[in-house]
Amino acid sequence: MVKICCIGAGYVGGPTMAVIALKCPKIEVTVVDISVPRITAWNSDQLPIYEPGLDEVVKQCRGKNLFFSTDVEKHVSEADIIFVSVNTPTKTQGLGAGKAADLTYWESAARMIADVSKSDKIVVEKSTVPVKTAEAIEKILTHNSKEIKYQILSNPEFLAEGTAIQDLFNPDRVLIGGRETPDGQKAIQALKDVYAHWVPEDRIITTNLWSAELSKLAANAFLAQRISSVNAMSALCEATGADVTQVSHAVGKDSRIGPKFLNASVGFGGSCFQKDILNLIYICECNGLTEVANYWKQVIKVNDYQKNRFVNRIVSSMFNTVSGKKIAVLGFAFKKDTGDTRETPAIDVCKGLLGDKACLSIYDPQVTEDQIRRDLTMKKFDWDHPIHLQPASPSVVKQVSVVWDAYQATKDAHGVCILTEWDEYKTLDYQKIYDNMQKPAFIFDGRNILDAAKLREIGFIVYSIGKSLDPWLKDTVAMA
Ligand code: NAI
Repeated sequence: MVKICCIGAGYVGGPTMAVIALKCPKIEVTVVDISVPRITAWNSDQLPIYEPGLDEVVKQCRGKNLFFSTDVEKHVSEADIIFVSVNTPTKTQGLGAGKAADLTYWESAARMIADVSKSDKIVVEKSTVPVKTAEAIEKILTHNSKEIKYQILSNPEFLAEGTAIQDLFNPDRVLIGGRETPDGQKAIQALKDVYAHWVPEDRIITTNLWSAELSKLAANAFLAQRISSVNAMSALCEATGADVTQVSHAVGKDSRIGPKFLNASVGFGGSCFQKDILNLIYICECNGLTEVANYWKQVIKVNDYQKNRFVNRIVSSMFNTVSGKKIAVLGFAFKKDTGDTRETPAIDVCKGLLGDKACLSIYDPQVTEDQIRRDLTMKKFDWDHPIHLQPASPSVVKQVSVVWDAYQATKDAHGVCILTEWDEYKTLDYQKIYDNMQKPAFIFDGRNILDAAKLREIGFIVYSIGKSLDPWLKDTVAMA
């Protein structure tokens, strides 16, 4: 029986391995992690991450051919194929701080593999890593080899949180990069055989190692670039009276462009886009490609601009101050159908409003109060380290309350911000919300999910990103 071990039981390692176990009943899959609470949660009824469909998959295979364990060394030493899916945060100190990927966790995983292995291994990069990481890993492994042969493969993960299980069941492509040697090709085939249990062969792409590593960074950069492009257009739409939904619909009808990822919003978030683009920028700079680096920097700048613009729009509409005013924040996760808050635009928007002394009442159906308070106090990039290395307990942020109901959040509020596109926000009773708010009552829809015309009929002053402005908003100046 082939044995797979995955180091890192996070948003990628957990769901990916659960699907491999489900689709390959004859393969034994063990997911290991240094975080005891995480593994305990994976072995309980309350999984550590929220992802539609994940519970069912885990329930079907856990205890049969899917296991979660903290005994990292034992399972690594017994495995034939080892996936490494650990954190690759942005460096906060030293060379490349604020841009380069911090490979501390990757390196320590590689050293541990070298220490405990007693048989040949295929080591698979599942984490998103800088180009040429495989070379560094290869050096660590082979310098400690004890006659053991290692083959390194790059198999970056393209799943999107919120649709991870569907993405894993039916991927657009699986990418496997390896050495162009006979042993490298044999390793590629071994991993291909795993995916071939359910992925059609024409969707399994094989490349050299460096193309696979770079393709992941490139794909995330292209996706983020589309969002920044449409968000840049949204500012121009507001200035000219165009409607960004109509513009992106018209643009997306061009088959060369396509309709996906063209929704204007308060900005992109998530653990990957910013981190991976910063990493790409750093690699460009290290290779003397300043113009290329500057091109990608702009994608992040526009994203920051969009978040600032949203905050400024709120403050300027509300008589240039939100000091002491209650603002209801609906949504904190970086997108719907996930509880993940890493790099969520809500952090910057909330911090911006708190900077102007607003009182925030936050409601998100999947994010805990503890997480929200951590996010509002943590330093940039600190979130992307294993939980036991993060700051211990969140300090109290005065002026923030976290509630479990949208009506409670909006009661007596001066304004409402929609920061995540949760479906349940579309069907709230906005007449009731209006009746219980201070007047004039404002709604700032950062995801364009509400029917602005209906809200205006009720009496709200409405701001929707990239849409014609209410006369009220036209008279206020929002400077970024
Ligand atoms: P995560 O933070 O949810 O999980 C990483 C896990 O690795 C943590 O539970 C941590 O305790 C564990 N870990 C760290 N060092 C370890 C070690 N030496 N031994 C055992 N366990 C260790 O991170 P996530 O989101 O799963 O991301 C992992 C990688 O996958 C990152 O490189 C990320 O960029 C990439 N990725 C993430 C995607 C996402 O949607 N979250 C999508 C595609 C790629």
